[in-house]
Amino acid sequence: MGKVLVVYCTRVGATKKIADLIAEGIRIEGGEADVVNVTGIKKEEDLDGYDGYLFGSPTYHGEMMQGMKTMLFLAEKSNLEGKVGGSFGAFGWSGEAPGRVFDTMDHILKMDMVSGPLSLKSAALGGGTQMAQDYGREIGKKLNAS
Ligand SMILES: Cc1cc2nc3c(=O)[nH]c(=O)nc-3n(C[C@H](O)[C@H](O)[C@H](O)COP(=O)(O)O)c2cc1C
Repeated sequence: MGKVLVVYCTRVGATKKIADLIAEGIRIEGGEADVVNVTGIKKEEDLDGYDGYLFGSPTYHGEMMQGMKTMLFLAEKSNLEGKVGGSFGAFGWSGEAPGRVFDTMDHILKMDMVSGPLSLKSAALGGGTQMAQDYGREIGKKLNAS
């Protein structure tokens, strides 16, 4: 079983909550997961050494946060091609960010993506806790199978 890096950005904390729940799901499947704020990713090498990657951003003004945009440019140079990938984020009404992050990981970083992004209004509402854990388990299962 592999090791997964879960990178999140957040303004008020909801996307961090989702990141922690996803990490639990990965661990349930026997994997290792490191959860890191995007502010801790400063150079390409900070992304080295993992089998899978999850990148998370909430949506503000229809977009992902600037920190995630900057990190995706960094990740372009990190050779994540073929690594297992997924994306997530909290949202209020439109929730564009996780999809945009997902598409960049797929088309530009050429990662081995899971079925789709995870967008949650709140980790605590409407089965969100379970959904976030299940997303982590999906990543864990994909890693176990590869
Ligand atoms: C000024 C502002 C703009 C926002 N813009 C959007 C938006 O365009 N679409 C959306 O779905 N949610 C939007 N939201 C809601 C946030 O995405 C939501 O509160 C989310 O849970 C924040 O996540 P965070 O705690 O990880 O920062 C906005 C919130 C604020 C305060």
